[in-house]
Amino acid sequence: MSDTQSLSNLAMGAVRAAEAAAIAAYDWIGRGEKESADQAAVDALRTGLNAMAMQGRIVIGEGERDEAPMLFIGEEVGSGVGPAIDIALDPLEGTTLTAKNMPNALAVLSLSPRGGLLHAPDTYMDKIAVGPGLPAGVVDIDAKPEENVINLAKAKGVSPSEITVCVLERERHQYIIDGVKSAGARVRMISDGDVAGAMGVSGLGTQVDMYIGQGGAPEGVLAASALRCIGGQMQARLFFRNDDERARAARVGVTDLDRKYDLTELASMECLFVATGVTSGDLVEGVSRTASHVTTETLLLDSSDKSVRRIRTTSPIG
Ligand code: FBP
Repeated sequence: MSDTQSLSNLAMGAVRAAEAAAIAAYDWIGRGEKESADQAAVDALRTGLNAMAMQGRIVIGEGERDEAPMLFIGEEVGSGVGPAIDIALDPLEGTTLTAKNMPNALAVLSLSPRGGLLHAPDTYMDKIAVGPGLPAGVVDIDAKPEENVINLAKAKGVSPSEITVCVLERERHQYIIDGVKSAGARVRMISDGDVAGAMGVSGLGTQVDMYIGQGGAPEGVLAASALRCIGGQMQARLFFRNDDERARAARVGVTDLDRKYDLTELASMECLFVATGVTSGDLVEGVSRTASHVTTETLLLDSSDKSVRRIRTTSPIG
């Protein structure tokens, strides 16, 4: 069986696992306890992954073994029989969004054949992304935000005033916000959740022309996996705050700490991207419940045929 077939055969298992994680996190929506919400999602996702017929290995997870009792980087999941799969996951992308009952919290994972996803440490990452159909290298992570706006506008044949850039609302991003505005473009500010934010460049969720900013490296690899499925360009560079973070990178095999990664290095092989809504948002509806049933909505992207599926599942409770 080809790698592509093996991966596609795992799609429903991955969807079920993400659904279970979202349902588990649902109980914690709006309760101000982001750790409990995350833990519930982790437990459910792990159970779901272990039910899948694969030799799974977590390459992007909850952190290292000593700090994450489950779904740590390097942990093996799955039945142990079947294709060798690397998994990037964020059981709850948007812990604060969940705790505060705000839109856009997701349970997210990506599956790829062994070696298909960058082994990134749990540190920060600078990221820039634009949508499909643009000349290669139209934007550059090392250029100023205003230059990227102008170059992107030129390539799209529009005025910079018609460009919208998604940015995580953080003090460290003030130079991006200022640069984008100085070029005459609009900013779309998000409070959290830069996987969905970056996916907006490819027209899923709220449409934007570009995503720029520093967020989690795990979220960067997950966004790259989604863009590999739906099209787009992305560049990224790990960002370290101290020597401990540099050491973490070394432990997952990063040798060039300053490397500028492009999309094909972040997600280098065919992949599946799965995201189930916890709270309703740009990409999918959140979990909803009646007295007897629970309903979820999941986005399933497959890079092999560029398909976008939305799966709405209603199951009896208990
Ligand atoms: P959590 O789910 O861990 O809360 O992450 C949410 C998030 O907004 C990510 O989408 C983003 O990459 C990261 O946090 C940004 O980190 P910070 O909040 O430290 O700026």
